[in-house]
Amino acid sequence: TTKSYKLNTGYSIPAIGLGTWQSQPGGVEKAVEEALRAGYRHIDTAFAYGNEKEVGQGIRASGVPREEIFLTTKLNNTDHKRVAEALEDSLRNLGVDYVDLYLMHWPSSTTPDDMKKHYDDWDFVDTWREMQKLAGTGKVRSLGVSNFGIKNLERLLNDPSCKIVPAVNQIELHPANPSPKLVAYCNSKGIHCSGYSPLGSSNSPLYSNETLKSIAEAKKRTVAQVLLMWGLQKGWSVLPKSVNVDRIHANFDLDGWRLTDEEMAKIDAIPDRFKVCGDSWLPIKVFFGDDE
Ligand code: A2P
Repeated sequence: TTKSYKLNTGYSIPAIGLGTWQSQPGGVEKAVEEALRAGYRHIDTAFAYGNEKEVGQGIRASGVPREEIFLTTKLNNTDHKRVAEALEDSLRNLGVDYVDLYLMHWPSSTTPDDMKKHYDDWDFVDTWREMQKLAGTGKVRSLGVSNFGIKNLERLLNDPSCKIVPAVNQIELHPANPSPKLVAYCNSKGIHCSGYSPLGSSNSPLYSNETLKSIAEAKKRTVAQVLLMWGLQKGWSVLPKSVNVDRIHANFDLDGWRLTDEEMAKIDAIPDRFKVCGDSWLPIKVFFGDDE
């Protein structure tokens, strides 16, 4: 689909982006190349994924001009005290001179040697203060955050040092983790939501969900396509990950049909709850049960 959303920076974010979390170096270069050939113009990666170099190679192999592509990467948790340098590392890995969106990956500032050890003299408000200095350097077009719950966003936005409202909050979004309060909060502040793991990630139980299966059957679409369309109609961009050529194409094939209000409501009413990526592996709490 060629649809896009407008960010608070004035730039547009294409509605469907290729996710690359858990795409191993070796497969991701081809996946990125294939996605761009299929028409994707939005690629999502992160320093922490360890695949920025291959993502950059895939972009160059596709022959699609850099300026046509919306490219996102993310500041690693262990790099919060070296924001400018970390961005340079990512730009070098990717082989580009700017990114369209630079996200703070988590509101968690951990020491370089231990992802479990949080700084006691630094946190995400300090990191955002540093990230704001990147605006106007020509190296990032929009700045944003990821995995921020309402409490963290409130703290950030209420801090006097916060001059730039994040353009995006990239969070886990699918029918078993719909986070309506967090999404509504972001929307009320002009923060666009991007949904990661929109298919429920690997071994997703969503493919066997009866509600989704019956809607997919009625629409002559796959469950994956129904999941992505549900996200688009909710108003967020979706970041399906795939390294498989057919699925890369199918996940982008969302033009010319819509879910009815009734179908949307049925999906909204799915009672199952699970999270692909919680915060228990971090030294601090990130999600505060806003939507539980
Ligand atoms: P693969 O890369 O082999 O296609 P998410 O985007 O929620 O993180 O989900 C990604 C997972 O779902 C990956 O395991 C991916 O595997 C798989 N996947 C991606 N697209 C589809 C699809 N259209 N149908 C079924 N599985 C898919």
